[in-house]
Amino acid sequence: MIIYFTALLLSILLPAGSQQAPVVTIEPRSASVRQGDTVSFRCQVQRGGQHVQLEWKRTNNQPLSDNVKIGPDGSVITFSSVQLVNQGTYRCLASSAQGRAQSVATLNVKHPPKARVTPSGPVQVQVGEPISMECRATGRPRPSISWLRVDHDHETMLSTVTSDAAAVVQVVSARAEDAGVYVCRASNSEGTSESRVELRVDGAIQGATFPQASISPAEMVAVEGQTVTLHCQASGFPTPTLSWSKLRAPLPWLHRIQGGSLILQNVGRQDSGQYICNATNIAGYVEATAQVEVETPPYATCLPDQLRVRAGELIRLQCLVHGSPPVHLQWSKVGGILPGSATWLERSSSQGNSALGPSESAPAGGHTSTCTYATVV
Ligand SMILES: *[C@@H]1O[C@H](CO)[C@@H](O)[C@H](O)[C@H]1NC(C)=O
Repeated sequence: MIIYFTALLLSILLPAGSQQAPVVTIEPRSASVRQGDTVSFRCQVQRGGQHVQLEWKRTNNQPLSDNVKIGPDGSVITFSSVQLVNQGTYRCLASSAQGRAQSVATLNVKHPPKARVTPSGPVQVQVGEPISMECRATGRPRPSISWLRVDHDHETMLSTVTSDAAAVVQVVSARAEDAGVYVCRASNSEGTSESRVELRVDGAIQGATFPQASISPAEMVAVEGQTVTLHCQASGFPTPTLSWSKLRAPLPWLHRIQGGSLILQNVGRQDSGQYICNATNIAGYVEATAQVEVETPPYATCLPDQLRVRAGELIRLQCLVHGSPPVHLQWSKVGGILPGSATWLERSSSQGNSALGPSESAPAGGHTSTCTYATVV
């Protein structure tokens, strides 16, 4: 009891510094060195007085390697001829009667990258199967990783999905032309490492050629209600399979596919648009397009639609025509011929085309005349 009180009294009376728990810092806090270099960290007591014991440990509590030496007062740790195994964090532990403290320093050992590809060895996939090849690389500083494709003597950079220390090249559906040699290249300031892998695509037919396709007609204008037929001509080996679609819309409800032809029955204005013929074989696919415009047919109305006149009177009939221009019209008489005296004149109004005529001296007995059609030429 008395001793305890004495200690308490001393700690209050003695000047601050010697009676406080220690505080330590490490200089430098981290170091990046090459293999074979020598590097030291110094643990400095900032506070806590003379009777502080210093000790160095690895933070993973592994024993220190043989090339690591601690100076006589325990403050300096020296790594001579640094090895990769020295990489890690180290702590300086300080202890005195007043307490304990620690500080941590990091040793980075620069080294050239080492790239490793999984799966290794030749990668074998079937046509249509997904491909995924991963490349991981070690090295410090952290290497940049890229995938390349090697064809004869030129290299093509591939797009990859990249994360921390890995880059993955992915293909949703393998094609014959994906077969070949792929290279993963990792580099940092210390060097470059490459790992190669061969990709084989099975089911690839020797001599396969890229499809070619065209649609005839490539452009057409149809009138509402008509049937439209588009022929897709495709070549390539093996013979490509054809599929039809419409740009930004489903195919019309009343469509039929017959051989290489797309048949659209009873077309409406909404069937206008771009039609696509997709020719696919194992070498790839090609899309041919055709433009179809569907127009409204012209129709005519007569004013008046019935007329009763006396013989000798003037007949004046008007024909109003609607439809996509240009529209031409012609008068005729049902079951007869137009009287020689009939004249007509054609003129355009803002609503469309209209015509006046024929004007005729009605023959004796009188009759009604009906305007029934306009003919488009
Ligand atoms: C054509 O076919 C290929 C392969 O089947 C497909 O990837 C592509 O999306 C198709 N194009 C159209 C417009 O359907």
